[in-house]
Amino acid sequence: MDNQALSIVDKRTQSAYEIPIHDGTIRAMDLRQIKTGPDDFGLMTYDPAFMNTASCKSAITFIDGDKGILRYRGYPIEQLAEKCSFLEVAYLVLFGELPNEAQLKEWVGQVTHHTMLHETTKKFLEGFRYDAHPMGMLISTVAALSTVYPDARHVLDPESRKLQILRLVGKMPTIAAYTYRHSLGLPYVYPDNDLSYTENFMNMLWKMTEPKYQANPILARALDILFILHADHEQNCSANVMRSTGSSQADPFVATAAAAAALSGPLHGGANEEVLKMLDEIGSKDKVPAYIDQVKAGHMKLMGFGHRIYKNYDPRARIIKWAADRVFEVTGRNRRLDIALELERIALEDEYFIKRKLYPNVDFYSGIIYQAMGFKPEIFTVLFAIPRTAGWLAQWQEMLEDPEQKIARPRQVYTGHAVREFVPLEKRSVPAAPTAA
Ligand code: COA
Repeated sequence: MDNQALSIVDKRTQSAYEIPIHDGTIRAMDLRQIKTGPDDFGLMTYDPAFMNTASCKSAITFIDGDKGILRYRGYPIEQLAEKCSFLEVAYLVLFGELPNEAQLKEWVGQVTHHTMLHETTKKFLEGFRYDAHPMGMLISTVAALSTVYPDARHVLDPESRKLQILRLVGKMPTIAAYTYRHSLGLPYVYPDNDLSYTENFMNMLWKMTEPKYQANPILARALDILFILHADHEQNCSANVMRSTGSSQADPFVATAAAAAALSGPLHGGANEEVLKMLDEIGSKDKVPAYIDQVKAGHMKLMGFGHRIYKNYDPRARIIKWAADRVFEVTGRNRRLDIALELERIALEDEYFIKRKLYPNVDFYSGIIYQAMGFKPEIFTVLFAIPRTAGWLAQWQEMLEDPEQKIARPRQVYTGHAVREFVPLEKRSVPAAPTAA
């Protein structure tokens, strides 16, 4: 064997093994041959939270967390954010290449013609309580689309998949806007096909009695950039859920709902809402040092800081900071931005954060922009889910087309009781101590 291999000596048996290395990885299944005897199951790896396990091969998104690099299909995020529209980037993420003019026109036209919701779905949304969290409404409504489009279950048919992709990318802003209007008690606004993807979203959110909604071009572009930055982020928690759910050949509506549920947690897409709460709790710039001391003492985390992959400045945070300046020229400066800038300044100079390589992530500034644009914090994660739908669907397609993929099914290290004799109810005098599920 060449030198692209790992030599292993099992000290239990003194047996030697050569495990091939490809792309800087060994195959976990190659370890199964390492046994103490014919009855031994074979060696497994133990990796809670997938800290060092590649679950797939992917050609969609590249991240170098140490250098702070993010690329979709090879293109640097900075160039895409500067030069593209969100739908152009969604096409790139989903289909692998930037569209030419004719392809882009066709794609935009198709997505635009899939923005309407079935009236029964609208009624479904009306059934939520007035104070329902928009993310819960979004997750449930996306799952409910599976009942409207039963043909979506043909996941191995590429034509059917393309149709569901158009439906999901098209309808996501409509559902998101309806959840928002619902929470405000306002009538839903139908999509306007004359408008761009983000302008139409703003129309469905904020149109009142005017006959035609006019989006502020600077705010529409800022939202489009934010959507580009959120389109995909390789194998994060929600993408992993999308792949895992999709691996059972569940339809893409329920799989997307599952991914959105994963996104809703405060350690994932819910973090930007938490950042705003944190900035309000701090209240003013002069209270920042005391807050940092509390974080360092382990009383809380600095929300919007730290990342499993980025051990450098999140490149998206840099672009968002730039976009924030444009937005504030329109909306007026927000005092939360001053608190955030002060937090960042102090944290980046502090030994605690330097040692742990904790830098601002995408959520640190996105919430401040969203709020300045008029969004309530409860809808921030919904704003994340809209563009990420393109990424989830790209991951889902890639998984289905990968001949190496099967239904996702991790192993476990069993730590429970060995076999025990059943105890009849009348003989269980002392209640058994509860064990962890
Ligand atoms: N504030 C303060 N300390 C933090 C921190 C934060 N935001 N994030 C991580 N740390 C500390 C941990 O306490 C730990 O310290 P220790 O070594 O003294 O125990 C160390 O940094 C490593 O953190 P760990 O929790 O192992 O990192 P992780 O990769 O598991 O977690 C996150 C990544 C994103 C979940 C985590 O950084 C976090 O909770 N951040 C805040 C939430 C957030 O912004 N999420 C959005 C992600 S895009």
